[in-house]
Amino acid sequence: MNKKKELVMSGIRPTGFLHLGNYFGAVRNYVRMQEEYECYFMVADLHSLTTHPDTKELKTNVHRVLSENIACGLDPDKVALYCQSHIYETSELYLYLNMLAYQGELEKTTTFKDKVRQQPDNVNAGLLTYPVLQTADIILHRAKYVPVGKDQEQHLEMARNFVKRFNYRYGEVFPEPIAFNFGEELIKVPSLDGAGKMSKSENQYATLYLSDDDDLIRKKVMKAKTDSGPAEKNSQKPDYIENIFLLMKLVSTSDTINKFEDDFNNCTIRYGDMKKQLAEDMVQFIAPIRQKADAIRNDEKYLKEVMEKGAEKARKSARATMELVREAIGLNYY
Ligand code: TYM
Repeated sequence: MNKKKELVMSGIRPTGFLHLGNYFGAVRNYVRMQEEYECYFMVADLHSLTTHPDTKELKTNVHRVLSENIACGLDPDKVALYCQSHIYETSELYLYLNMLAYQGELEKTTTFKDKVRQQPDNVNAGLLTYPVLQTADIILHRAKYVPVGKDQEQHLEMARNFVKRFNYRYGEVFPEPIAFNFGEELIKVPSLDGAGKMSKSENQYATLYLSDDDDLIRKKVMKAKTDSGPAEKNSQKPDYIENIFLLMKLVSTSDTINKFEDDFNNCTIRYGDMKKQLAEDMVQFIAPIRQKADAIRNDEKYLKEVMEKGAEKARKSARATMELVREAIGLNYY
């Protein structure tokens, strides 16, 4: 007998090309999960409106994210790969959930506080209720697992709270969704300048994009912060050195990593050599994805078909959930 597959949902904002953080925090797990789970992966274009981007660039950016997801190995025949704005049911569920989300908790959200700092002249209600919309995305498919990076942990915690409140008030409709990384700690890919995580909005030179050409990758890696090396054997690594090792662990072989670990512990490490090796391993990793994504991005007809097929699958699941939701709330007068 065919066992019913468990449900998975996740999303990425179309705010530019994807970077290494998006890959190792999210997309790699999408690809790993696509065989064994029923997966819904979407481009979060509605979320991106909270920062008032130039909407003329939305289409290009949505195409970039779709192409890069596919280039990384996601198969649109196996998963629902769609665009958030194509599923109108999301907005309806978002509305109901907003009645269960409180000002105090929304104002305390780290991502909200960051945005208030970054864009003090545009603290709109959409920014405040960003985690509510994200919850709607997830539970619209009654998903259980949400493959995301470490930075999304708080949003998932909030999603569980909103779900608990919904179920308590209206009856059990939704499972509590959890952030997923195959039982491991969620991933945080560090930036190359030793400060914080790789991100689309912070220091561009400290972020490696899946679209970067070989020379740019080399330049960025060679600029990563280092020092003259440890003075004492087996000493503790400063954060910015630890980060270089972390990046190496993502793309290099264990022999390479062990060699530089030993060199570090013996105080013989040459960071120039280490960065050269890391740069080459990054080039090997990124170049094939970049080439595939370039080819897919130029095929607009194919991307349109992918979006249509994805939206159809997502709508089917969304409609079934919304029937249950309206029934549970009591919005069934005829
Ligand atoms: P976004 O677009 O900022 O990031 C997409 C995914 O990439 C992960 N990520 C990272 N992981 C590890 N290290 C990093 N340096 C790094 N940078 C980004 C993020 O954790 C995320 O998994 N709010 C979401 C989009 C969203 C969503 C959803 C996610 C909308 N609806 C429903 C899950 C479920 C966001 O802005 O991701």
